Amino acid sequence: MMTPQNIFDPKHYEGVRKPLLEAETMPAFTYTSPEFYQREVERIWRKTWNFIGSADQIRNNGDYFTLNFAGMPIIVLRDHDGKIRAFANTCRHRGSELLEGKGNCKLIICPYHSWTYDLSGNLRGTPEMDKTLNFNKADYGLISIAIDTWGNFLFINFDKNPEPLKKHLGDLPEKLAPYRLENMALARRKSFQMDCNWKLFVENAKESYHIGTVHRATINQYASAKAAGYWVEKATGDYVVTFAQHEGSMALLKGAKGFPTIESLEGRREAGGTYAPLIYPSTYLACTIDCAWYLEMHPISANKTYMVHGALFPRDRLDRPDFGEVAKNYYHRWDVTIEEDILASVRQQRGLETPFAPPGRFSHREPLVHEIDNWILDRVIDG
Ligand code: FES
Ligand SMILES: [Fe+2]
Repeated sequence: MMTPQNIFDPKHYEGVRKPLLEAETMPAFTYTSPEFYQREVERIWRKTWNFIGSADQIRNNGDYFTLNFAGMPIIVLRDHDGKIRAFANTCRHRGSELLEGKGNCKLIICPYHSWTYDLSGNLRGTPEMDKTLNFNKADYGLISIAIDTWGNFLFINFDKNPEPLKKHLGDLPEKLAPYRLENMALARRKSFQMDCNWKLFVENAKESYHIGTVHRATINQYASAKAAGYWVEKATGDYVVTFAQHEGSMALLKGAKGFPTIESLEGRREAGGTYAPLIYPSTYLACTIDCAWYLEMHPISANKTYMVHGALFPRDRLDRPDFGEVAKNYYHRWDVTIEEDILASVRQQRGLETPFAPPGRFSHREPLVHEIDNWILDRVIDG
């Protein structure tokens, strides 16, 4: 389908709006058009709560990290009182980026002309500004970005009056309470540059149809769509969730040595499967019998996405003498299957970058792809 003149005309999406088994897939240009991407930035990323990883990245006062989220550079830090804060990473003098990477600091000193801010964002030092008329430091503090937490999980919101994070998450914290995610440590962060639209990877994460093909030699051995059964459960909040029933841990390849089942799951249904929500717009989280992991997505452009995989284990597992050795089995499982999924998504992106890619149809195993696509259209398309 050639990219039409007005890509936001609702008539292009009538096929996606139909019920699953009558519906068409999203038009190819929604994955390739810079204009469509820009609309997502304005109406989704700048409006909603965006997951940006674990507070384990900033455990001590003064710890900070920086990131560029959908074109918005920010600083996330823990101030001198232990409070977590986020600021636009831009100096109030002439706009230099202030911090890079991650680290620990007592003050934020601009690398251009040394304006200095404290960790609460107040402007403190302004060399040679004493002759400037009507200049009041109090008016030039760093620009705050809303940040909130669920357990150790950090979320930012670029909206000036964001809805409460609690409302966004709905009943998800309650549903996942048995896993005691707040007691889990971030054991490893690994990032990936992906040459695909963010939606392709998100859709992939929430359908089991591809497991038999893409993960034929890996997780399909115990988590095939047929063997595991993937139930979509009711969600109250901005997320969708499946529960898959299967043997062992979803985070290990068959036969690999792992850690014991999370103690708080004993005797519960959760001890025999995996809960995997997708928190809108793009955060995949999986909670299995012995650990959890997340996929944190940072959109970069229509065909580029930066992704971080975070590995979470109950904190006391990290004290085990065999932690490093056993954790390798998990890392191997994740690394292999993530590469399989990235390759599938990148191939799909290449296949969509053509005027000869009309919409397709869904199988009954892709209800959440359809639901996610419609959630996006609800925000991006008027009427
Ligand atoms: S731009 Fe930061 S001090 Fe000049
Ligand atoms: Fe996959």
